[in-house]
Amino acid sequence: MTRNLAILQHSSMVAKAAYEIAQRTTEIDKHLAYQCGMLHDVGKLYLPSEESYKHPYLGYEIMQKNSEYFVAQICVSHAFPVFAAEDYLEYYCHGDRAEIKKIKGALANVERNIYIELIQFCDKISGVNSFMSLDEKFTLYKYKKNKTIDDNVAEAIKRNYSVLSQIKGRLDEMIQDDVYLVLKSI
Ligand SMILES: [Fe+2]
Repeated sequence: MTRNLAILQHSSMVAKAAYEIAQRTTEIDKHLAYQCGMLHDVGKLYLPSEESYKHPYLGYEIMQKNSEYFVAQICVSHAFPVFAAEDYLEYYCHGDRAEIKKIKGALANVERNIYIELIQFCDKISGVNSFMSLDEKFTLYKYKKNKTIDDNVAEAIKRNYSVLSQIKGRLDEMIQDDVYLVLKSI
């Protein structure tokens, strides 16, 4: 599978999950949720894989230029459940100070909302053609990365997961069901 096809398939999984959750709530518009899911990784399509860490901000820029301000906020925030957590940004951007500055600048003007949280959650649990729980993803992540990360980064990743678990709790409450069970049935 080409990289771009994998990106599009992942985006479509995120969109599907967001739509299914949204349509079981009264607060979230399912069409907007779907659109946010489809576009959250758009920046990746314009970057080689070694510069993939630039995709949240590039996606933000692309959407801003197209006057899609709401989706722009989704793009720049989707990878950062704790928003501007310095240790995590440093790790995520491989120490690229210029990129960190751009992301922090954009995030400073973004207010957390339910669509941002929904996409942060759906992104984390969506693969290319299946869903997994936060626990499964976290275990996979630790397994893959534990040799290369220092304690501060490990802490920052844990904080991300704890925020994502809280988001899952809020979504479960909104849909009056377990998000994982719902996604299993689609
Ligand atoms: Fe992404």
